[in-house]
Amino acid sequence: MNQKIIIAIDGYSSSGKSTLAKAISKKLKYKYIDSGAIYRSIALFAIRKKIFDSDLWNTQNFISLLKEINLKFKWNKKYNRTDIFLNEENIQSKIRSEKVTTKVSLIAQLPEVREKLTFMQRNIGKNKGIVIDGRDVGNYVFPKSELKIFMKGSIEIRSYRRYQDLKKRGEEVSYEEVKKNLIYRDIMDTSRKISPLKKSADSIEIDNTFMSMEEQLNLIFQLIHKKKNK
Ligand code: C5P
Repeated sequence: MNQKIIIAIDGYSSSGKSTLAKAISKKLKYKYIDSGAIYRSIALFAIRKKIFDSDLWNTQNFISLLKEINLKFKWNKKYNRTDIFLNEENIQSKIRSEKVTTKVSLIAQLPEVREKLTFMQRNIGKNKGIVIDGRDVGNYVFPKSELKIFMKGSIEIRSYRRYQDLKKRGEEVSYEEVKKNLIYRDIMDTSRKISPLKKSADSIEIDNTFMSMEEQLNLIFQLIHKKKNK
């Protein structure tokens, strides 16, 4: 059987979800959806609207601005990747900054934001043949996805990976700051009321603290093979 399936990868921040998801999508020629990028785009929009500039940020005011947001993924031939566009502006290089990273989990708590973004993700995935990563994609966005993976790794290895990533991009940030932000986002993402990060009973857990990318990919392709030949 060679039917297209949905592969949903959830897990903790910087647990290597997107690297794995991109590698799988390339091999299967599936669409890759980075759901974190969508949440980050909304956070960037909120920052630009100065939503966080006062201590008491006004949620209602922000929610009324959501209708101004139009997000799209477009293929970038030059870099061989999918870029995200906010109202026709390519914001791919702007959504990974520490500024966005520190605000995104606040934005991701809002039910109206989650509703809008869940609708968008389901629409992109309606014909299957996708690999999507995030926090609630297996549990909530695509509960019937054929393969669900839950990724974790020690806080030290995750902080180190993210720290290296940021340094490569030229951001001035310390390892301790990165670690603090990851711990904060883990707490926010696992404790929020709506669709918190949680391993579902039907997902397969991968702890990649001591696993190479090659080992992870081998494991995933064995699982995909099993699913597709059922
Ligand atoms: O995956 P990434 O680290 O880019 O996600 C950024 C943040 O977006 C997460 O910490 C989480 O707060 C939010 N998010 C979410 N649900 C998703 C994907 C991301 O709440 N499906």
